[in-house]
Amino acid sequence: MDENIVWHRHGVDKHKRQQGNGHKSCIIWFTGFSGSGKSTIAGALENTLHELGHKTYLLDGDNVRHGLCGDLGFTDADRKENIRRVGETAKLMVDAGLIVLTAFISPFQAERDMVRSLVEDGEFIEVYLDTPIATCEQRDPKGLYKKARAGEIAHFTGIDSDYEIPLHPELSVNTAELSIEECVAKLLNHLKTNHIIG
Ligand code: ADX
Repeated sequence: MDENIVWHRHGVDKHKRQQGNGHKSCIIWFTGFSGSGKSTIAGALENTLHELGHKTYLLDGDNVRHGLCGDLGFTDADRKENIRRVGETAKLMVDAGLIVLTAFISPFQAERDMVRSLVEDGEFIEVYLDTPIATCEQRDPKGLYKKARAGEIAHFTGIDSDYEIPLHPELSVNTAELSIEECVAKLLNHLKTNHIIG
């Protein structure tokens, strides 16, 4: 970074925004295979938080790849850059006082740890969707596993691209065993126990 660029501390800060919102801000980072339920559970949790009057934003892999990350593909280097951009965006949103939910495969531990290091202790909640890949492939909501098996998509996670299982996630949810409501209840309980929301 240019040594002539100096950080400017503004008067309205994260703590003032959090006070105004009546809750803390954080990143709820959903990681798991395509079809594991990341977007579904993140969306359901966001609905519940919104109904409770909390300030949220959901960053979703497929949506972000239409704009902010529209120039990126699925090589390891592009996935790394995808997560770097999303991590920096989520960090700004935490500063803005929001409960940020993210739904990205984010297959590498190093990138997930990098995002964790961007925010304060307790502000990064890693949620592993540990739905078995066989279930994800069976669901195949977008028909992408079928295409990957047919060799029509290269570098598909779980087929010919790696996924590193989270080492120490704050939470694991298996959507093959729990209902959407049960997953949301588990997440809400975590947010309350850790005093993110009241
Ligand atoms: S990440 O690995 O960089 O975190 P991201 O979550 O943004 O991935 O995008 C994953 C979504 O892109 C999947 O849900 C799927 O719909 C689509 N997709 C297209 N090609 C691939 C691929 N080669 N591997 C994984 N997902 C793919």
